Amino acid sequence: MKKIEAIVRQEKYIDLQEALNEIDVHGITVYQVMGCGHQKGYTNVVRGNKVEINMLPKVKFEIVVSTEEWVKKTVDVIQKVAYTGNVGDGKIFIYDLDDVIRIRTGEHGIDAI
Ligand SMILES: Nc1ncnc2c1ncn2[C@@H]1O[C@H](COP(=O)(O)OP(=O)(O)OP(=O)(O)O)[C@@H](O)[C@H]1O
Ligand SMILES: [Mg+2]
Repeated sequence: MKKIEAIVRQEKYIDLQEALNEIDVHGITVYQVMGCGHQKGYTNVVRGNKVEINMLPKVKFEIVVSTEEWVKKTVDVIQKVAYTGNVGDGKIFIYDLDDVIRIRTGEHGIDAI
């Protein structure tokens, strides 16, 4: 089992949720987060003063899937939907996951996803 974390632009949230639904990825947790990447934010000018904006609002998706095939499908969709070609498009992190437990039934592992 793998956990996929994707940090994307806020404006991609609805499109990505719909696209994941279309490929039958239904177990999703979404967070509103703040973050910065390589550019360390940007400099804005507010009433003549330079203001460093270090943390930008982003949306983070957490998705747990069973197989490498599902990782590929899910990552392909995220890359396609989240891409604009400009800095700040986001990042995808993939982790190994030890176990999942469905609280209602006590099922473990793939059965619980
Ligand atoms: N190394 C990292 N560790 C943790 N979070 C990160 C990391 N890099 C990026 N992020 C998160 O992803 C968001 C988007 O990052 P971003 O797309 O700007 O990455 P980047 O490396 O700067 O690439 P680009 O040059 O395309 O902007 C950040 O706001 C931050 O929340
Ligand atoms: Mg960046």
